[in-house]
Amino acid sequence: MKDAIEDQLRQIKQTVPKTENVAALNEQVWQLKGILARSKRVVFLGGAGTSTESGIPDFRSSDGVFTAMKQFGHTPEVLLSHTFFETHPEEFFEYYRAYLLHPKAQPNDAHRALARLEAEGKLSAVITQNIDGLHQKAGSKNVLELHGSVFRNHCVNCNRAYTLDEVVKKSVVPRCYCGGVIKPDVVLYEEALNEQTWRAAMTQIHRADTLIVGGTSLLVYPAAGLVDYFQGSNLVVINLGKTSKDACATLAISAPIGKVLRDAVLSAKTA
Ligand SMILES: NC(=O)c1ccc[n+]([C@@H]2O[C@H](COP(=O)([O-])OP(=O)(O)OC[C@H]3O[C@@H](n4cnc5c(N)ncnc54)[C@H](O)[C@@H]3O)[C@@H](O)[C@H]2O)c1
Ligand SMILES: [Zn+2]
Repeated sequence: MKDAIEDQLRQIKQTVPKTENVAALNEQVWQLKGILARSKRVVFLGGAGTSTESGIPDFRSSDGVFTAMKQFGHTPEVLLSHTFFETHPEEFFEYYRAYLLHPKAQPNDAHRALARLEAEGKLSAVITQNIDGLHQKAGSKNVLELHGSVFRNHCVNCNRAYTLDEVVKKSVVPRCYCGGVIKPDVVLYEEALNEQTWRAAMTQIHRADTLIVGGTSLLVYPAAGLVDYFQGSNLVVINLGKTSKDACATLAISAPIGKVLRDAVLSAKTA
């Protein structure tokens, strides 16, 4: 696990632009500042790539799929499915604890910049596929967690609530006092998204004048489909890898999101 994190951090550092690309990136950051200055209702839609600079590996650009296959003989999509949770709780929780629980992770500049934009009254919502709680830790208030959160947990039998700390301290398959398994409030593959959260996300994107899509491969549905509800003027993509929306974006930046948002939002210079 430690190797996977170090590998990904190394890859991100290597992706920091070489000298000849610095000018082009600076120009894009400048354009982003201009867009933000003109915007009144920014919405952010993000995924696992938003947290890689906090040391939490994503699935697709790190060797997450490969590691899961090698160690467990299944892809993350199988390991994190509702069927697998019910039929193989031991392996489910082994994988979940090793790869999805990062209780010590801290927000990075991307999380901090988005919290700043909200505090300034520019950003109306952060919509995230992440389950790591780092946006809230950075100070964001209106966070729509499409896939739930590792910080909330419930007994499948009596519905008693448990904190993450309580779950971490229990045996591999955490059990309630009543004997039931304690399930994280994380949306597993085969499970439906929370309808209220989904509607709120749709409404926020529909009303936004600027949508920043960042740190997501846009391969996980239905979350990726939210982009299609956007009708505003500026679609900005900030992602290391290519996405299906790059071609129709006002601005597509291929660089680490923490660096981009730090330069565009947290640095003192204005556009
Ligand atoms: N932190 C977490 O909570 C976490 C971690 C792993 C997986 N997941 C879950 O797995 C699913 C994965 O889908 P996804 O689309 O969110 O992730 P993904 O792994 O499919 O894609 C991540 C994308 O982020 C890009 N990326 C990685 N680091 C980046 C950086 N520093 N700056 C800019 N771009 C960067 C990659 O190029 C890639 O395209 C989601 O449902 C999510 O809930 C969550
Ligand atoms: Zn119980």
